[in-house]
Amino acid sequence: MLVLGVESSCDETGVALYDTDHGLLGHALHSQIAMHDAYGGVVPELASRDHIRRVLPLTRQVLAASRRDLSAIDGIAYTQGPGLAGALLVGAGMARALAYALDVPAVGVHHLEGHLLSPLISDVPPAFPFVALLVSGGHTQLMLVSGVGRYTLLGETLDDAAGEAFDKTAQLLGLGYPGGPALSKLAATGDPVRLTLPRPMLNSGDFDFSFSGLKTAVLTLVRKAGPGAAADIAAAFQAAAVEVLVTKALAACAHSGATRLVVAGGVGANAHLRERLTRQAGAAGVAVFYPRLEFCTDNGAMIAYAGAQRMLHAQTDLTFAVRPRWDLA
Ligand code: KG4
Ligand code: ZN
Repeated sequence: MLVLGVESSCDETGVALYDTDHGLLGHALHSQIAMHDAYGGVVPELASRDHIRRVLPLTRQVLAASRRDLSAIDGIAYTQGPGLAGALLVGAGMARALAYALDVPAVGVHHLEGHLLSPLISDVPPAFPFVALLVSGGHTQLMLVSGVGRYTLLGETLDDAAGEAFDKTAQLLGLGYPGGPALSKLAATGDPVRLTLPRPMLNSGDFDFSFSGLKTAVLTLVRKAGPGAAADIAAAFQAAAVEVLVTKALAACAHSGATRLVVAGGVGANAHLRERLTRQAGAAGVAVFYPRLEFCTDNGAMIAYAGAQRMLHAQTDLTFAVRPRWDLA
């Protein structure tokens, strides 16, 4: 079965073709980062308009690169939510219309399901069950994944998402948008122990997170230590955020008896997080699985993959509604 996947929930237009027999055939992405950079964050109206401009050329590009014709498509998956309503409507409208024209089923996919299944787009995918640490710009969750569609929420952030905390800290340090990659680059040049920041909820005994206090503590440090300390502040922030994420993720594995941990979402691209997790998980007997680096952030491949799994289980429908706010579990 050949599934076209379309992602348009925020500031990347992603299109991909996934074949349930032969794996991922092709994918293409257009990031709007440069367009939103001048505004310090995503401007929803500009995002929607850019998705409209990109989605069809990207689809043609993926089909040509995969040497497939529109007529070969057996189903179309699109991100139904959560995300920006106008941006979601572009992908949903295009996918529904194309599915109708081709007389194939369409399926609306939960964006976070795409992220948490993304490490399965691999020659050596993790077996179920596993714990998933979902760390994106909008979400921070620990989930027990027993199979496709079988998700139990173990814990989540009570305020800011991890990626949001990286972005806001980066903004306080005068770095661009999105701040995560820039902050982690700066942190690599700083001293992570000269300045200390709190580890919020590290010992709370549950699997929840809180990052908004950390951001406030960074603001105090910036005012006290001055702009010359930016690299050390970045390193201190990264060390604090990563310690909490790693500790809670491994505690969730121990609690649920899982020996496999999947890390997904944009913050999963963070080198310090990967390094600490690999070291500490190894010591705890937990195998860690990451998506390909390009599939950590938003992309069409994860939507095509998740949609294909849904279609294999005959879970398609004819409803046409986007869900800007939507809990996975
Ligand atoms: O999953 P994603 O592309 O979009 C959402 O669904 O939110 O995640 C984007 C988030 C942003 O907050 C970005 O700053 C963060 O992931 N991010 C990083 C890194 N690369 C992306 N955070 C820390 N270190 C990175 N290397
Ligand atoms: Zn995402």
